[in-house]
Amino acid sequence: MNEVATLSPVTSRHDRPFVLTKEYRRFEEFCEACRRERYIGVCYGPPGVGKTVSARHYAQWDLLEGQDPLDQNTVVPMEVAGCRTLLFTPRVSNTPRLVREQIEHGRLMLRSLVGRAEHDAMSSERPDFSERCELILVDEADRLTTQSLEELRDHYDREKVGLVLIGMPGLEKRLSRYPQLYSRIGFAHAFRPLSQEETLFVLRKHGHGWGQDWNDDDFTDQEALAAITRITAGNFRLIDRLMAQVVRIMRLNQLNTVNKEVVDAARECLVIGSM
Ligand SMILES: Nc1ncnc2c1ncn2[C@@H]1O[C@H](COP(=O)(O)OP(=O)(O)O)[C@@H](O)[C@H]1O
Ligand SMILES: [Mg+2]
Repeated sequence: MNEVATLSPVTSRHDRPFVLTKEYRRFEEFCEACRRERYIGVCYGPPGVGKTVSARHYAQWDLLEGQDPLDQNTVVPMEVAGCRTLLFTPRVSNTPRLVREQIEHGRLMLRSLVGRAEHDAMSSERPDFSERCELILVDEADRLTTQSLEELRDHYDREKVGLVLIGMPGLEKRLSRYPQLYSRIGFAHAFRPLSQEETLFVLRKHGHGWGQDWNDDDFTDQEALAAITRITAGNFRLIDRLMAQVVRIMRLNQLNTVNKEVVDAARECLVIGSM
C-alpha cells in the first residue's frame, strides 16, 4: 500500500475513560478478597495489559494522588470517604527506609483525606482521623530489593492490612525464594490480555475514545476491526498505540474510513518486535 503516507512511530499517552473489562472485574474480586481476609496476594501479567490502570481505578487513585494531607484548604471530593486502598509504587532504586517512608506518608494521606471527606459529608463536630488503610497495592513490585520486600512483610505483620504485589510474570517465582514472605501469600492472580471477543467488543463500544466510530454493517470496517484484534492480541497498550497510528495515517491521507490496508500500514510504523 505505497500510496498511503505514514509518519514516524509515536506512543500515545492520551487519557481515555477507563473500560470495565472482564479482567478488571477479576482483578477487583481478587483485591476484595485480599482486603477482606488481610492476605498477601500476587498479581502478575505481561506489560500493557492494564495492571497499573486497574490498580489506580480500584484505589480511586486519581482522587488521592499527590494530595497534601496537611493542606486544609483543598476541597476533598465526597467519594474519598469510601477509599480504603493505598497504591504504592516503589522507586526504581529503593531502600527499606524509602519504602517505609512512602507507605507511612500514603497512610497518613488516606487517614487525613478520608476523615475530612466524612466530616464534610456528615458535618459531624470532630473529624475522625483513625486508620483507614485496609489494603496496600504495590505496583512495579519487581523493583523491590530483598530488603525492601522484608520491610513490606514486616509492615504487613505489624499493621494487618491486605497486601497485593503487582508485577511481571515471574514475580511469583521470585517471591517463592523468600519463604518468610511466600508462606504468607494467600492468592496468586494472573492478569490476562483481553480475549478476541472482548477486544472486538471494546473496540466497537469504545471506538470514539480512539477517535474512531465503527459501522457494524460495513464489511470494510469489520475487516479492519479483525486486523486490529489479530495484531494486538488483546494487549491494551498495543491497541492504544496502533489506533493512534491509524488515526494519524487517516488524517494524513484525508481518509474518512479505516480499512485493513490502513491498519497494516499503521502496524508497520510501530516498533513492536514481537507484535
Ligand atoms: N481497562 C482499561 N481501560 C482503558 N484503558 C486501558 C485499560 N487497561 C489498559 N488500558 C490502556 O493500556 C495502557 C497500558 O495499561 P497499563 O495499566 O499501564 O499496563 P501494565 O501496567 O499492565 O503494563 C494504559 O495506558 C491505558 O491507556
Ligand atoms: Mg504497569
